[in-house]
Amino acid sequence: MLDAIPVIAIDGPSASGKGTVAQFVAERLGFHYLDSGALYRIVAWATHKKNIDWSNATAVAECAKTLVIRFSNNQVFLNNQDVTADIRTEKMGKGASEVAVHAPLRAALHDLQHSFHKFPGLVADGRDMGTVVFPNAQLKIFLTASAEVRAKRRYDQLVGKNESANYEKILLDLQERDARDKSRTSAPLIMADDAILLEADNLTIPQEIDLILKKYQGKMCK
Ligand code: DC
Repeated sequence: MLDAIPVIAIDGPSASGKGTVAQFVAERLGFHYLDSGALYRIVAWATHKKNIDWSNATAVAECAKTLVIRFSNNQVFLNNQDVTADIRTEKMGKGASEVAVHAPLRAALHDLQHSFHKFPGLVADGRDMGTVVFPNAQLKIFLTASAEVRAKRRYDQLVGKNESANYEKILLDLQERDARDKSRTSAPLIMADDAILLEADNLTIPQEIDLILKKYQGKMCK
């Protein structure tokens, strides 16, 4: 029954633009949207507040089970507190990548991610949407770009928000995060066998959105 509700899974490395693209695609189709990275960021933030070490798999997973997470109008709430800006920092991006290596945490977040799979459909972005969480997704996209292009995007974003930014440091952090996300044993960042590779170095965001929508329409008209 659930298999009849379509899922578009968009996976890829940090700062590949998949969040922006996924949100637009969801909006255009009137689908629900799951930002799975936000869940790992919330866990990093909540555990940090409780002085739980990000390397402690059991304590991190137990803490995650107690969290009441809600998304509303582009905002993220944890136990009714707006944590949207708190979880978007570089520190929480790194923390999310560190807690995400733990299999018990990934299992603890499984049902919550599936609760977004509702009529009329879902666009989900992350690292393992097409490989582990929604393996039966109707369309799987692997969106990537060179580390240099992604670092430049992140740099421009920070400068645009009047935040201090150092391109070299951003590039190094991204490469470190990519390496950790790809090399972990539990649900590593890899392209699903049946995913479509989209290399975004020379594509604009509107072009990426158009391409994904065309691929989706192509699949649904078959
Ligand atoms: O997409 P993001 O940058 O907000 O994700 C932050 C980290 O969370 C990422 O480096 C790895 C982890 N993550 C994951 O392991 N699995 C997902 N489906 C989404 C994110």
